[in-house]
Amino acid sequence: MEAFLVANNVIINADIQKGRINKNIYGHFAEHLGRCIYEGIWVGEDSSIPNTKGIRNDVLAALKNIKVPVLRWPGGCFADEYHWKDGIGPKENRKRMVNTHWGGVVENNHFGTHEFMLLCEFLECEPYICGNVGSGTVQEMSEWVEYMTFEGESPMANWRRENGREEPWKLKYFGVGNENWGCGGNMRPEYYADLYRRYQTYVRNYGNNKVYKIAGGANVDDYNWTEVLMKNAHWLMDGLSLHYYTIPGDFWLGKGSAIDFPEDEWFITMKKALHMDELITKHSTIMDKYDPQKRIGMIIDEWGTWFDVEPGTNPGFLYQQNTIRDALVAGLHFNIFHNHADRVQMTNIAQTVNVLQAMILTEGEKMILTPTYHVFDMYKVHQDAEVLAVDSSFGTYEYNGEKLPQVTVSASKNAEGKIHVSLCNIDHQNGAELDLDLRGITAANTKVSGTIITADTMNAHNTFEQPDVVKPVEFTGVTLENNKLAIKLPEMSVVTLVIE
Ligand code: AHR
Repeated sequence: MEAFLVANNVIINADIQKGRINKNIYGHFAEHLGRCIYEGIWVGEDSSIPNTKGIRNDVLAALKNIKVPVLRWPGGCFADEYHWKDGIGPKENRKRMVNTHWGGVVENNHFGTHEFMLLCEFLECEPYICGNVGSGTVQEMSEWVEYMTFEGESPMANWRRENGREEPWKLKYFGVGNENWGCGGNMRPEYYADLYRRYQTYVRNYGNNKVYKIAGGANVDDYNWTEVLMKNAHWLMDGLSLHYYTIPGDFWLGKGSAIDFPEDEWFITMKKALHMDELITKHSTIMDKYDPQKRIGMIIDEWGTWFDVEPGTNPGFLYQQNTIRDALVAGLHFNIFHNHADRVQMTNIAQTVNVLQAMILTEGEKMILTPTYHVFDMYKVHQDAEVLAVDSSFGTYEYNGEKLPQVTVSASKNAEGKIHVSLCNIDHQNGAELDLDLRGITAANTKVSGTIITADTMNAHNTFEQPDVVKPVEFTGVTLENNKLAIKLPEMSVVTLVIE
């Protein structure tokens, strides 16, 4: 460590609550892509890998531990090529198809609606299903919702019963298409807005199942897409999505390696992750014009790092390693999401296992947890807590004449009155000393403790041979006196404090 930079001050007003952090901000996304579903989650009942009804036990236990609140499926780009009827009934009769978008491999449809719903039941999370607008029909989408949620006598509900499920499932979140500006049909916003209006009409609420309908939203800074969708369909949607990936390089010419990267790619990755704040602010301003009450949730249902695939792996499988840099990207995003909790109602990191910024990597029967997983674990205390008002002034992180704020912060108070403060120091060379003033606290015996994830090198990561290189440990760099905290954050660190 070279130096601790000063001039970092934070004031947390524990008595000024700014709204709830929807726990769905900690949502996930699992697509039929590479080894995410097959091998990563689903191994089949006959596998030698320990499983429950085909779902691997180790991955299930790890995901349960981070309290996954909602899971998006089956895509992604796959969703607009997926025909749900191919994925139900006896497995030996299920249609095999080519996953043209992701690696051209054979999809045997062994993981379908029943298996996904079972996974959500095991995880105790809400299912979020993305329907097919790009290549599917209105009838197909309508019948899927009927199949899943209709209680009485109907062709689809009867078929569900024949396939072994008597009771309807509860299905809250339904996406009407995915990336319809791109892989979901290459549409213009005006055309998609009309299709959205039409398709969503037949996404019915059966019995007491009330569907929260999510319209396919913009790519990155396509503000016109948000404007057109809101103008033409805002009263028919509950949520509008946004997709933004953190890519240090160029999407087509080379994104950059997940582990072999130079200093400037660390800096640019932090800069691009912080860009999420501007995107939320600007898209939200457009949404405010049509929805000043913020009834419609911003649903950031794809986010995370996107690097070049690991050498020697199928380019269509999007398998990448995960370092302390990814941990910082995750922490930065959560601090941003918390501070926009009035509009951001759900986010889904891409993706859960073996794809992009994964929580978990598997190799046959082996499994490791990534630095990103550990940040989800450290931050889960913020789920459904009240965001607290934070005033802060931070020094800068400078690199090659460019400047970023060195530290980001967010804080919340949970139902038991515990305060959690999460801090990220993005500087790859310098620690940060912070003075944190805790206001609005009356308890006499306040105490503080914390957890930190950090590393000695920018590309530190876990491997199947060394699975615990990067993991959270107790944080000892904090002292508390008279409601003032003195904090020393090492370089490249994410910390969560609990004040009780
Ligand atoms: O997450 C990988 C892909 O990225 C998704 O399938 C698609 O929606 C996005 O372009």
